[in-house]
Amino acid sequence: MSVVVLDFGSQYTRLIARRVRELGAYSVILPGTASVEQIERENPSALIFSGSPYSVFEEGAPVPDSRLYALNLPILGICYGMQLLAKQFGGQVCDAGTRSYGADELVSHDGELFDALRGALPVWMSHASSVESLPQGWKILATTQHNPHAAIASPDGLYVGVQFHPEVVHTPSGGQVLSNFLSMHAISRDWTAERNLDQMIRELRQSVADASVVLGVSGGVDSSALALLLARAGISHRAVFVDHGLLRAREREDVEASLKPLGVSLITVDASERFLTALRGVVDPEEKRKTIGKLFVDVFREEAAKAGSCRFLAQGTLYPDVIESAGGEGAANIKSHHNVGGLPDELGFELIEPFRRFFKDEVREIAALLGLPDEVRLRHPFPGPGLAVRILGEITPERVDIVRRADDIFISTLHEFDVYHDAWQALAVLTPIRSVGVAGDERKYGSVIALRAVTSVDAMTADWARLPHHVLDRAAQRITREIPEVGRVVYDITSKPPGTIEWE
Ligand code: XMP
Repeated sequence: MSVVVLDFGSQYTRLIARRVRELGAYSVILPGTASVEQIERENPSALIFSGSPYSVFEEGAPVPDSRLYALNLPILGICYGMQLLAKQFGGQVCDAGTRSYGADELVSHDGELFDALRGALPVWMSHASSVESLPQGWKILATTQHNPHAAIASPDGLYVGVQFHPEVVHTPSGGQVLSNFLSMHAISRDWTAERNLDQMIRELRQSVADASVVLGVSGGVDSSALALLLARAGISHRAVFVDHGLLRAREREDVEASLKPLGVSLITVDASERFLTALRGVVDPEEKRKTIGKLFVDVFREEAAKAGSCRFLAQGTLYPDVIESAGGEGAANIKSHHNVGGLPDELGFELIEPFRRFFKDEVREIAALLGLPDEVRLRHPFPGPGLAVRILGEITPERVDIVRRADDIFISTLHEFDVYHDAWQALAVLTPIRSVGVAGDERKYGSVIALRAVTSVDAMTADWARLPHHVLDRAAQRITREIPEVGRVVYDITSKPPGTIEWE
C-alpha cells in the first residue's frame, strides 16, 4: 500500500513524500494530473494533494482526475491542494490580495488532525489565495488570526485540508499533523530500513539467482551501498572501481578498506595515466566532462568484458532520478547531472536498480545496516568527474596535486573543528589566477585557491555556509604554508542560484 502524493508543482512535493516515509508509511509521487488508472497501479491507501505555484482559478492550473473521488480514499490537501478540495466541492477561493508568506500561528485548532497538540501552533504559510467560503457541510478545524480557514474537513472527515505547510521544518508540529492524518485512516507503517533491506535481498536473490552482476563503484554512498548489498545477498558480482587520477586524497585506499573486508569483490583499475593524457590541453568544462565520461565507459567496458559471463549491470539509480525521468509538473526546474557511473544501455547487460524506490537518506540508513563505515556513508557528495571540474583551466598532474592537497587540508580542518557536517558539501578550487604576495623577504607570485562550503538539502539550491572565521583562518594559513605554489586563499560567498556549487 502507498500514500500517493499528487504533485501540482510545489517545490516541497518531495519533502512531503519524505516526511510520510519518515513516519514509516511508503509514499510515491505522481504528477497532479495522473489518471485514476495510474493512481490505482500504486495500490493507494490515501492521497495527498501538494501545493502549487498556480492559483486554483488561474488558467492552466493543474487539476486532478475528477474520477479519483470515486475511489473513496482519504485525501489531505496542502495549500493549493486544500483550495482544490474546497473549490471542487463547491466552496469559494479568492485572491487574498497580498501574498501570505512566512511564519504564522494557529490560534485555535480542533479534531483528530491536531491530536496531541496543545496551545497556539507556529506554522509556515506560502500562498496568494485563500478559501473564502466552505463547501456545504464542511467544518473548520483551525484558524489563524487573519484566516478563518487554516484547516478544514469534509462532513465525514475523509477529506482534510491545511493552508499551512506541515512538511517544512518551520512548522514544528507538522510531523504530528501528518502522523495524525495517517493514524486517522489506519495507514500501515511498515516502511523501515530493516524491512526494506530484507525485501531487497529477497528480490535480488529471486531475480538474479545464480547469474553474475557487474557494477561501477565511485566511492560515493550509493554505489558503495549497492556493492555491499550484493555481497550481503550472496550474489556473485564484480565491482569495478576506476581510479581516474582525479580522486580526493586517500580516496582509493578508503574505498578499498571499507568494501573489501565486507565481502565485496572489488577490482580497482588504475587508469589515471590514460585519463590525464586524454585531458591534456582540455580547458572547456563540458569537454572535460565528456572526455572523462567517454573514457570511463571505455575502461568499464574493458573490465566488464573480462568478467565474461556477467548478465546484469547494477546501478544505484535513486527515486529522484525516477521521478525526473517520468516528468510531471514539478520536474521542469530540475537540472540533472550525469554521473560518470551512468553507463549507456548498449553495454549489453540487463539492468538492476535495487534503490530506485529510495531517497538518498534512506540509502544512507540501509548503508548503515550493511556496515558501511560512517566516513564513507556520511561523506560530502563528490562529482563523478572528480577534481577535474575543480581545476579551472588545464589539468596537469601538478595542478591536480595542488587542488588535492588544498581539498585535504580544508576538509581535515572542518573535521578538526567538528564542523564538517555543518556543510552539505565543501571543496577547494584551483583558479587560473595568480597573485602577488610576500614570502619572507621575497616577492611571491602564487596561485589563488578558492574555498567553497555550502548548505543545501538536495543540491538544487544552496547557500554558502557561514563557517566560523577561525576555521577559515586555520585552513587558509595551512594551505598557504603547506602548499608553496599557493599565494592566496579566498572564500566563495555565492549562493545557488545564481552560482552553482562547483565552479565548472
Ligand atoms: P552544481 O555545481 O551543478 O552541482 O551546483 C550540484 C551537485 O552535483 C555535483 N556535480 C556533479 N556530479 N557529475 C556528477 O556526478 C557531474 O558532472 C557533476 N557536476 C556537479 C556537485 O558536486 C554537487 O554536489
